[in-house]
Amino acid sequence: MAVDLTNRDVISITDFSREEILHLCRVGAMMYEKEKAGERHAFSSVLVGRSLASMFYEPSTRTRTSFHTGIRELGGLSDGFSGAEGTSVMKKETIRDTITMMGANHFDVAVMRHPLDGSLQWAADVARIPVINGGDGKNEHPTQALLDLLTLYVLNDGTLDGLSIGFGGDLSHGRTIRSLSLALSHFENITIRWAAEDFLGMPPDLVDLLRARGVTVSREDTVRDVMAGVSYYYMTRPQLERMPGVSDREVSEMMGRYRIDLEKVEGFDVKVLHPLPVNSEVAEIDYRVYFHAAQAFFRQAEFGIFLRKALLYEILNHDGYIRYEGELLPELEFGNNRLSRTIAGKTEERMFIDRIHTGTVVDHLLPGSRKAVDEALSLENRGYTCITASIKEKRNPFLKTDLDELSERDMKNIALISPEPTINYIRDGHVSEKFVYLLCENENCVTRVVAEDVPPKFYAEDGRIHCRYCRSELHVRTHKVTDEERARYISSLPQQIEAMK
Ligand code: CP
Repeated sequence: MAVDLTNRDVISITDFSREEILHLCRVGAMMYEKEKAGERHAFSSVLVGRSLASMFYEPSTRTRTSFHTGIRELGGLSDGFSGAEGTSVMKKETIRDTITMMGANHFDVAVMRHPLDGSLQWAADVARIPVINGGDGKNEHPTQALLDLLTLYVLNDGTLDGLSIGFGGDLSHGRTIRSLSLALSHFENITIRWAAEDFLGMPPDLVDLLRARGVTVSREDTVRDVMAGVSYYYMTRPQLERMPGVSDREVSEMMGRYRIDLEKVEGFDVKVLHPLPVNSEVAEIDYRVYFHAAQAFFRQAEFGIFLRKALLYEILNHDGYIRYEGELLPELEFGNNRLSRTIAGKTEERMFIDRIHTGTVVDHLLPGSRKAVDEALSLENRGYTCITASIKEKRNPFLKTDLDELSERDMKNIALISPEPTINYIRDGHVSEKFVYLLCENENCVTRVVAEDVPPKFYAEDGRIHCRYCRSELHVRTHKVTDEERARYISSLPQQIEAMK
């Protein structure tokens, strides 16, 4: 099957098929062969006139500079920012407005790294130009996984089938292990062996998924036990920045016997990989291993250039360009997160609409949440009436107001304080619309930052609801929703994540 990556957004490694991964590996390996043959500039005219915007809200050495080198060696140019300082992000500009400016400024493609999970899917939805994920929070770093695959492909004589690989370090809090292992699951006879402290171990859901896809996964007691059964050992850095409440010293102790030192590699024919950077204080790889034949992580880092050259070439190698129109897609305004509820009979209506002819009732608020909701909405300061809660309402609080429609920001603010509120719109003394406002449960999801104005969107896969942006699963928890209402909502959603452009 012909592979076409023209103008493709690169958001998740799971969006890549086996054929696409192999195609990128073949093109990347060809770029590598040219470099080895002294022909670094063999492709230096293929992307003349094309430009890459690099938008790094978080620190990066390898990803950012290898994208810059990649486009330069193909004849194109790059510009952008490294850190939000010096940009209008400091003036509270949103992701939507910032990524739109990259199209306005005639860039052909953008690579972005951002601390919020799902921010890259959002940026890709907004931008007309293709967007590449350079890392979104703890979520995904697909070009790292692709460069790891290219490294393995070249080291393993041009195949990814039959690989045996060990994983060590922090297998729980980073994005690398999940992305790489899921990508490997496209291939035949893959064996993964790992050893780590429980807290840093492979997530059980990931192990289950890999096994269901035919990967052999085993936990070993020691690093040497792992080394004894693999050709490659993939070490990772403890993601201290993603472990709130855990001290550096505690993590350092957990890494303890799992650090890679000379004693662990001696006697094995194994190549040690690492996405880098190595944490110099934790020193998960002892410096003496840097000088040992097992060290392959610096070669791996250079494969970042060959992979990114291959990717940029495949995305941009077409005639013409995407014209900037200055308009946003209408689909970006609204979410699909309103789970419609059946409007109950007259008794419930009477209770709701008492003293309101036209307005809004928000019910199923958490006990004790009403004050915070009032403060967040500030309805009285905005000129609306808020009807005082009775004693009964304090146990089971709800909010009645003559504001006839809540804004998206209002509803999101309520849902952040009291998840899954039920919103009832009252028209002419009757409940005209009733729905539960759903919001992604992942606390680091871009949809939960009110000022970013990302409309919550979900898709359904195998009957489960997932956030369009960070792809984490949503569990509808309120007992008020009936099975029928839930099923009707699920069937209304896209049945898989779909590209928006
Ligand atoms: N491996 C990696 O993503 O490195 P940087 O954080 O330096 O880009």
